[in-house]
Amino acid sequence: MLQFEFENPTRIVFGQGVENTVGRETARHASKVLLHFGGASALKSGLLDRVRSSLTEAGVEYRELGGVQPNPRLSLVLEGMKICRDEKIPFILAVGGGSVIDSAKAIAAAVPYAGDPWDFWEYSASPETALPVGVVLTIPAAGSETSGSTVITNAEKELKRGLTSQLLRPRFALMNPELTMTLPAYQTACGAADIMAHVMERYFTNTRDVEFTDRLCEATLKTVISNVPRALENPQDYAARAEIMWAGTIAHNDLLGTGREQDWASHGIEHELSALYDIAHGAGLAIVFPSWMRRVYRHDPARFARFAHEVFAVEYDPFNIERTALEGIGRLESFFRRIGLPVRLSEAGIPADRIPEMARKSTLKGGGMIGGFVKLDSAAVQSILEAAL
Ligand code: NZQ
Ligand code: ZN
Repeated sequence: MLQFEFENPTRIVFGQGVENTVGRETARHASKVLLHFGGASALKSGLLDRVRSSLTEAGVEYRELGGVQPNPRLSLVLEGMKICRDEKIPFILAVGGGSVIDSAKAIAAAVPYAGDPWDFWEYSASPETALPVGVVLTIPAAGSETSGSTVITNAEKELKRGLTSQLLRPRFALMNPELTMTLPAYQTACGAADIMAHVMERYFTNTRDVEFTDRLCEATLKTVISNVPRALENPQDYAARAEIMWAGTIAHNDLLGTGREQDWASHGIEHELSALYDIAHGAGLAIVFPSWMRRVYRHDPARFARFAHEVFAVEYDPFNIERTALEGIGRLESFFRRIGLPVRLSEAGIPADRIPEMARKSTLKGGGMIGGFVKLDSAAVQSILEAAL
């Protein structure tokens, strides 16, 4: 196990009705907030009205900024930044999923920064301070409710990039699994793939003697695999929704990554897909992850065989570890397919013509290489994407 520091300061309030405490929770931090949300879902479900009432009851003044799109855009971040600066708003309240939360965090980092905020996603500057953010979560997926990351799309540059800073971990996250019952089946499935990917990016590691976190990873994956079909079968199944929601947070608050090297190549590759084709992040991961696995499993077949056996109950064949490993990858792919996700680029309507461009862009950040488990250059990324056609 490697040395590590772990601090997750986000206060989590979980269960039925917790969104109605948002006024009280927010009032601890500010008396004026930017209320940030996405498209129609929070309005249609009545959630936004309840949040407004709760804020008003607690004496918190709010200014609204809706319209966050999935794969949130820099342009709206800049708009939010201007509003906060002009109206001296010291706190951002995100009501929605990963996209809304990421947009809120990006505004939070941009407001006190004197330069061009995109610097943060070009890695030429890091935030030295940021406004505090609070969250009412509506979809278990990105884990942004407790993570320090914000992933933003610069549509002009056709780039989607992540920024991570401890300063960006939300002050609180209110998580009511009932709010996720209105999710379309496809979004529930995309969320599941993202949660699983967050675990797998950490699970496939070169670090030895990490049994505790290995087992936590396996438990998280198995919980998602058993509960997502239940939630798809019956969207009102509170127990299943609650399991998925809590698993989604634990998958990405970095508890599961403590003391171990992590990979993150699949996320890097997926972000290029989302940047060019605006595909849902989880759907992109369902395509990229199995293809990445087939490319790298020979690096440590025993780890992949363990994954197959522990997570998908594949019979462990000590005389043919490779067969066990490949069976596990096949079962992961079948699971994604069964819950309604694409597992090939063609199934998502993505053509081959821009694969070399995506491969090149995805490796720019890491000095030409990405991935902690296996280092990949742009030719390797290209072959992963081509194998996913
Ligand atoms: O905009 P509305 O109308 O709210 O609709 C949303 C959106 O269309 C809908 N939705 C959300 N909650 C709903 C609902 N519909 C009905 N009922 C509800 N309760 O779902 C759609 C997707 O929402 P979005 O916020 O985009 O989903 P998700 O949480 O998967 O976030 C994806 C974004 O997070 C980034 C991804 O790259 C992507 O941009 N990520 C952020 C991370 C982080 N900050 O730590 C890590 C992740 O790896 C990921 O990269
Ligand atoms: Zn993700």
